[in-house]
Amino acid sequence: MSLADNDAAQIPVVESIEQARATIRQWKMAGESIAFVPTMGNFHQGHLALVRAANQSGMRTVVSIFVNPMQFGKNEDLDTYPRSFDDDIASLSECQVDMLFAPAVSEIYPDGADGGAAVHVRGLSDIIEGESRPGFFIGVATVVNILFNIIQPDAAWFGEKDYQQLLVIRKMVRDLALPIEIHSVPTVREGDGLAMSSRNSYLDPNQRKLAVNIYRCLQHVVDSADDGMDYHYAVVHACQELNEVGFFTDYVVVRRQKDLEVPKKGDKSLIVLAAARLDDTRLIDNIPFELMLKDL
Ligand code: PAF
Repeated sequence: MSLADNDAAQIPVVESIEQARATIRQWKMAGESIAFVPTMGNFHQGHLALVRAANQSGMRTVVSIFVNPMQFGKNEDLDTYPRSFDDDIASLSECQVDMLFAPAVSEIYPDGADGGAAVHVRGLSDIIEGESRPGFFIGVATVVNILFNIIQPDAAWFGEKDYQQLLVIRKMVRDLALPIEIHSVPTVREGDGLAMSSRNSYLDPNQRKLAVNIYRCLQHVVDSADDGMDYHYAVVHACQELNEVGFFTDYVVVRRQKDLEVPKKGDKSLIVLAAARLDDTRLIDNIPFELMLKDL
């Protein structure tokens, strides 16, 4: 076993599947459990919240950094996606990380990202965000499944900012009978409410000021539902308002929290989700809420 120790934070960095498996095998033989946080790097406080939550489980904590080509569309930002490996390692020093798995693309996809087996969580992958980004959730489910097979975690942590991704992974784990507990951590926000995201670094200062409007519009939908009003008007208004301030809005929708289906009479646990672009920067956000006063 050869673990490349990083001097700054003393976090063992592992690049090969073989090395990762050898270490995991030793831990499992010693009766230890594994907590896993898969990421694409470029850490912000949202990522660190996931790692801290994994740490609290008392299990060995494994974090992966892998910018997954399979989940990027042809015209998307794979080449420019922010990569900041050294800074990421430095920021992990405030957490306990027993292994940082950072494989090359060829290690994960020996036949290339377009060439191998794929995991399609049918239905849920094809609506809302999946409709706007065809193939995205196939890329996510496939890489998460591969990473699960390598790391063999007992539990894994995902952020609620990527709410549909969280549900796709929960469904994949259930449908494929994977023995892994999936945990989620609430969205971490900047002071003004903007959801933290690696893609926020694409925003220029003016766009950064505008970006908070996504959160404001979502909050307005939630407030109108809280006030017993028909949230459908607020949804239409949210789209208009985002477009007026300079966004190109992909969607603002209210769905059921449990499966992202259109709410039916009596459904109370709802979520409003939005995706909108400022120039080339695509931002997503959501706010879960409970319908208190009225069936719609
Ligand atoms: O949320 C992410 O960072 C990615 O989609 C994930 C889950 C690490 C898969 O590449």
